[in-house]
Amino acid sequence: MTSQTTLLVTGGAGFIGGNFVLQQLAANPALRIINLDKLTYAGNLQTLASLRDNPRHVFVQGDICDRELVQKLMREHRPNAVVHFAAESHVDRSIHGPGEFIRTNIDGTFSLLESARAYFAELDESARAAFRFLHVSTDEVYGSLGADDAPFTETTPYAPNSPYSASKAASDHLVRAYHHTYGLPTLTTNCSNNYGPYQFPEKLIPLMIHNALAGKPLPIYGDGMNVRDWLYVEDHCTAIATVLAQGTLGEVYNIGGWNEKPNLEIVRTLCSLLDELAPASQSFANQITYVKDRPGHDRRYAIDARKIERELGWRPKETFETGIRKTVQWYLANREWTNNVVSGEYRQWVALNYR
Ligand code: NAD
Ligand code: TYD
Repeated sequence: MTSQTTLLVTGGAGFIGGNFVLQQLAANPALRIINLDKLTYAGNLQTLASLRDNPRHVFVQGDICDRELVQKLMREHRPNAVVHFAAESHVDRSIHGPGEFIRTNIDGTFSLLESARAYFAELDESARAAFRFLHVSTDEVYGSLGADDAPFTETTPYAPNSPYSASKAASDHLVRAYHHTYGLPTLTTNCSNNYGPYQFPEKLIPLMIHNALAGKPLPIYGDGMNVRDWLYVEDHCTAIATVLAQGTLGEVYNIGGWNEKPNLEIVRTLCSLLDELAPASQSFANQITYVKDRPGHDRRYAIDARKIERELGWRPKETFETGIRKTVQWYLANREWTNNVVSGEYRQWVALNYR
């Protein structure tokens, strides 16, 4: 990132967006971030509390579907790039209620692209050459792998299976089309499962830590042998910054941790770390409970992240061992953060999903 850069970040009060905003403002003294977030159940200003008096961070509560607001922000702040995280992001919620996923992930991305296209058309030549629209997406758009299948590459055909992944796939296609048709300088990243600080405790790792400490069951869907690739969130954020700075326009970059693991192994690792760092009278592993499987549950995701390494020189810094230990330590030291987000709405969700 060069000096005097202004980014319009969407969804910067969520898990990955929040980590990105904190990391990038700390790393780049000349960076300004305009952070547009609707503050849905998943958005949390407490994540950004350390930025309260930072003039380089401007938080705006608003919806990416509100084109008037987005255009006003663009005219006022003249961003050099849009980094688009805002989305509905939880597969289980998309199964219970897909409507919001269609609205934010598809309509919202369309609306943001239209605003960016209008803004881009008004820029002078040098500003146009520098402008970027970076779309943050997921490996789930590629569908599910068998045990012996090769990992997803950037040319794997799309085969989304959940309303969440279908809505993200649609948004990826729109981004691609805006580059191809209108010449919008887009970049797309498709990343595997993230973990780390500030993740909402509906997702596997923070949910298991929260439930373990609360003495509740650790609900394993199906046989627990579904496989995901796991990446420490700060590594994802540096990958995004790398693609933003050096990525080739119109290209897609897969981002992954080279770290495939079955869910049961993840949960057992969490239990043994908690046994070590916060011992109770018996092992947390005794709380493991098998529950009904998720409908349409994708069996395996795996990412081939060689393109971003070969072309842009990015590789994750954390191993799973270092990243997961840091993560457990963070949740133990910040129990208040999780307790504060476990709102009434969250309790209703748990009652619905795990009934
Ligand atoms: P999250 O659910 O933690 O955060 C999403 C944020 O977007 C929240 O702050 C929410 O308030 C905001 N938001 C939702 N709807 C909005 C709207 N209409 N207008 C403005 N803001 C809105 O999600 P996350 O896990 O941080 O994921 C961020 C992005 O990364 C998503 O696009 C997701 O698809 C992608 N992704 C996530 C993972 C993962 O493991 N979490 C992996 C790969 C890709
Ligand atoms: P999740 O964190 O929801 O991410 P995604 O579905 O986007 O990969 O789930 C990760 C894996 O953990 C997935 O295979 C579903 C499984 N899982 C459970 O077994 N129990 C749970 O309570 C949750 C939330 C997830």
